[in-house]
Amino acid sequence: MNILIIGSGGREHAIAKVLSKSSNLDQLYICPGNAGTAQLGTNLSIDVSDFLGLKEVIKDKQVEMVVVGPEQPLVDGIVDFFSQQNDLKDLLVLGPDKRAAQLEGSKKFAKEFMVANGIPTAAYKTFSTEELEEAKAYLHTRSEGPIVVKADGLAAGKGVVVATKIEEAIDALDQIMEKKAFGDAGNEVVIEEFLQGVELSVFVLTDGKNYLVLPEAKDYKRIGEGDQGPNTGGMGAISPVAFADKKFMDLVDSTIIRPTIEGIKKEKFNYKGFIFIGLMNVGGHPYVIEYNVRLGDPETQAILPRIDTDFVKLFKACCKGDLASVNINIKDVYSALVVLASKGYPASYPKGELISIDSKLEDDFVFHAGSSLKSGNLTTSGGRVMSILGQDTNLSDAISKAYNAVDLVDWKSKVFRRDIGQDLLRIEESV
Ligand code: AMP
Ligand code: GLY
Repeated sequence: MNILIIGSGGREHAIAKVLSKSSNLDQLYICPGNAGTAQLGTNLSIDVSDFLGLKEVIKDKQVEMVVVGPEQPLVDGIVDFFSQQNDLKDLLVLGPDKRAAQLEGSKKFAKEFMVANGIPTAAYKTFSTEELEEAKAYLHTRSEGPIVVKADGLAAGKGVVVATKIEEAIDALDQIMEKKAFGDAGNEVVIEEFLQGVELSVFVLTDGKNYLVLPEAKDYKRIGEGDQGPNTGGMGAISPVAFADKKFMDLVDSTIIRPTIEGIKKEKFNYKGFIFIGLMNVGGHPYVIEYNVRLGDPETQAILPRIDTDFVKLFKACCKGDLASVNINIKDVYSALVVLASKGYPASYPKGELISIDSKLEDDFVFHAGSSLKSGNLTTSGGRVMSILGQDTNLSDAISKAYNAVDLVDWKSKVFRRDIGQDLLRIEESV
């Protein structure tokens, strides 16, 4: 089967790696891809918002399945576009349609879906741009923080402010609604209760009726050690997560995953793809913080290497609505994933620095993201440049392996968090 992956991050490199292991893969194309995916297939430099350009290449290369990595093309309706093309009738596409992608594209839509389907989430209110004064008045009725203010639309992970004081929340409202810091993404605002707990990312693959629960992961969102500093796309990930034991995951299944799938059926979404549920464990009770309609980056690099299956068969069965026919085996192994970034990320950072990789570093444990090949030289081209995986039968050794491997890669502005997984090690020790 010829497959096209859309995206250019570590997530897409991880997807390319697992697909490459399948004997059912013929040609692999990645659009636009990175220096890592170029070793596994052919990178195509087409703008991923150019659906007609993508269609042309799909026909030209006889692509049979498209795997969509990031959220933007899904929210823009890439799945609907392909399904409307008479000359692409047999094309399989892994990803939800535009209506379903609103679960990530609009926080208001997601909250309404959760409430309609009885899914536990923080209490909330929504306000439109015209209701700025009402939103402020509402905040004033709250005696104390913390409280959470969210821009409704996609804001590259920056549209959420966890305000410790009401004044901070008011300031966030001004930024989002008046100063339009996130453009139209701030046309609606969700104000919600602060949930105190530990976060967990749960991943599900669904064909719209059946579903498989994939390994869970913990993401390290802040740039600095001890969860300090600004939010990033994610600076590391661990899988599995100690507190996500059978009892907790059964609760997640019965109170969140099943009602979500039921909701998808009720709404008649065309949903063949991943659901990434960001949740908060509040004293043993899971609450949904957000839905994403895709896999996470960097969580994918930690979870996919824990799954034993033929990924071409798995994705094909999912696209055909036949997920019940495949099994996956989740390996009893820990993944520790450390992201290497360039100093300055998530704000501005240098690009074009020469990357050196020691030949002792095994390819299986390296995921490229913001890297490119220029005249045969591997150089930095993005904020998160690559990520390094360590795997072992216990968390402590998985973490040590990842950090030992981190030392085998270098460039001038390389930075990374040294504390990935330390909090989970402490939880494990206390159990
Ligand atoms: P989101 O983009 O909705 O995932 O929010 C980004 C981050 O803000 C989350 O990963 C949480 O750390 C935090 N957050 C969002 N909503 C809440 C909430 N209701 N209570 C506590 N923290 C939250
Ligand atoms: N790592 C979080 C995300 O992919 O949204």
